[in-house]
Amino acid sequence: MIRSIVRGFGSALPKRVVTNREMESMVDTTDEWIVQRTGIRQRYIAGEDETSASLGESAARAALDNAGLTPDDIDLIIVATSTPDNTFPATAVNIQNRLGMKHGAAFDMQAVCTGFVYAVTTADAYIRCGLARRALVIGAETFSRILDWNDRTTCVLFGDGAGALVLEAGEGEGTSDDRGVLTAHLRSDGSHKDKLYVDGGPSSTGTVGHLRMEGREVFKHAVGMITDVIVDAFEAVKLPLEAIDWLVPHQANVRIIEGSAKKLGIPMEKVVVTVDQHGNTSAASIPLALAVAASDGRIKKGDLVLLEAMGGGFTWGSVLLRW
Ligand code: UT7
Repeated sequence: MIRSIVRGFGSALPKRVVTNREMESMVDTTDEWIVQRTGIRQRYIAGEDETSASLGESAARAALDNAGLTPDDIDLIIVATSTPDNTFPATAVNIQNRLGMKHGAAFDMQAVCTGFVYAVTTADAYIRCGLARRALVIGAETFSRILDWNDRTTCVLFGDGAGALVLEAGEGEGTSDDRGVLTAHLRSDGSHKDKLYVDGGPSSTGTVGHLRMEGREVFKHAVGMITDVIVDAFEAVKLPLEAIDWLVPHQANVRIIEGSAKKLGIPMEKVVVTVDQHGNTSAASIPLALAVAASDGRIKKGDLVLLEAMGGGFTWGSVLLRW
């Protein structure tokens, strides 16, 4: 059977680092509060010349280099983002153009922090049914542009960045020993839409709006939703949870990550944590974390890797793949 195999990875971060100490000069907060409640120590913030498309392009180029491929080899681009450069056209076609591509198809995917999990799942479906052979799957965000910089309950949490994977069609046996995406589980429940949202949009206010979040409410649901879809993934492939090599979670809050790992009995040594360095970069957080752990040699060929996320909507989901 056809499997979508990871052929390359890459990432890009803005030039400017903003530490918690620097945040103290902007809003009524402290480094201690931010570290204790979230694990975040710093985040990267895009400059005027940096956008979701420019960061996404850099991440895509890095992933292509890592794969030993060129844009000519790609026939699908999916960009997971909630902070597109324009309302339309899609950031994906912007990146396609920046890469000098005139062939293939490119579109955006909007599932907020779960966007990358949705995008990998979608690319996998295209590849498995023969609609694409090689896909660039990109998570690219500039949440700094939709933050209310006077709201200390949200502005300290988020950062900007981008990450990308190249997925390629390959032959598998149909077993959990195959390399590539093994199973994916997507969920959403719109009854929670007002707990994490942006208070503007083209069809409602005609403005871009700012991020609003009932943090405690989101936190309350996070661990249960995340652990449910992780259990679903392992049940689907009939593997025990102990078989996991790396849990690469969405990076919102280290307490949510530790709570989920603890509930499932996954030791923290098997968990990739980058929230301390990047803050919450929404759809970019998983591919950024993958790039860190694959570059430093932690994630190796053949490892069983679980990606999971939960965020606005609510949306949540998991992808289990063999690297
Ligand atoms: O990526 C999408 C999914 N998003 C998430 O997963 C985020 C989920 N939520 C969270 O991570 C946490 O709820 C937060 C980090 C947002 C907040 O942590 P918390 O432990 O739930 O704190 P809280 O909201 O209950 O606030 C505790 C106190 C409040 O003061 P009072 O009302 O107890 O007097 C806040 O006003 O902390 C105060 N506070 C702050 N203090 C210093 C809120 N923000 C700050 C701040 N600095 N930046």
